[in-house]
Amino acid sequence: MVDLHEAARKVLRTVRPHIGEGKVATYIPALGEVDPKQFGFAVASVDGDVYGVGDQDVRFSLQSISKVFTLALVLSHDDEAIWKRVHREPSGSAFNSLFQLEFEKGIPRNPFINAGAIVVTDQLLADTGDALGSLRGLLRAETGNPDLHVDSVTAASESETGHRNRALAHLMADFGNMLNPVEHALDHYFRQCSITISAQELARAGLLLARHGLRADGSRLLTPKDARRIVSLMLTCGPYDAAGEFAYRIGLPCKSGVGGGILAVVPDRCAAVAWGPGLDEHGNSVTAALALDTFDSLTGWSIF
Ligand code: DON
Repeated sequence: MVDLHEAARKVLRTVRPHIGEGKVATYIPALGEVDPKQFGFAVASVDGDVYGVGDQDVRFSLQSISKVFTLALVLSHDDEAIWKRVHREPSGSAFNSLFQLEFEKGIPRNPFINAGAIVVTDQLLADTGDALGSLRGLLRAETGNPDLHVDSVTAASESETGHRNRALAHLMADFGNMLNPVEHALDHYFRQCSITISAQELARAGLLLARHGLRADGSRLLTPKDARRIVSLMLTCGPYDAAGEFAYRIGLPCKSGVGGGILAVVPDRCAAVAWGPGLDEHGNSVTAALALDTFDSLTGWSIF
């Protein structure tokens, strides 16, 4: 029997000497303002208990971790059409790379790189009329926190500097792979990335996948098959061009974001979230990766 509270404390003990390592993302200027000397870790078990340590209650920028939940929402609309618009292979290149997209005729490699996530948001916008509202509603319900919101300063900062995302979206539009006007889809994408959430809240939301698609209120959002598919994509594509290294080192399906958060899912057991703003060269948090590596060693819950 694993004592999750003790495991969380040991994770903090291991990570503490490393807090502040890595570089905060500066290509989105608002993220560059975040104090790097923070670290939070939280584990939510499938029976609903949450164990957290450090800055577990401090809200950080969700960034690319939002992509897991927008994909879940699209699949919940029984929208298999999405798989004609985005592939399911690891990219092996940076999350905002342009050259692969041109070479592959505007069909992104997977739903977690920026181009793929923009397509998913575009599809959710077409399906619901309000992609951001659908995502925010889902996260509010799953975290139990009705005040979860978009940080408007970060969203504005993303939009002002989002030239590369605009280039990706326009390239896809040129190949006929956008349903909505580029600026409209990007507005939802920038704001979904700018939702702020704490490690404890995000761990609760991650239970959706640990419970194979069941929501906090017991209703079903996803079929077990779609939940499993999302988790498999987290393993193969979640940490971008470091997905192989993460699978080797941590052995858990993960999704990272440039806000410094990483969500890991252990099906049937828990969702774990580690957060530290300092990133490595792939855009993954240094301390969050160390935390999950330690958590995996303590619990033996690697899926391999
Ligand atoms: O679009 C972007 O570049 C950011 N809003 C999200 C990128 C991200 O989080 C990549 N994660 N490691």
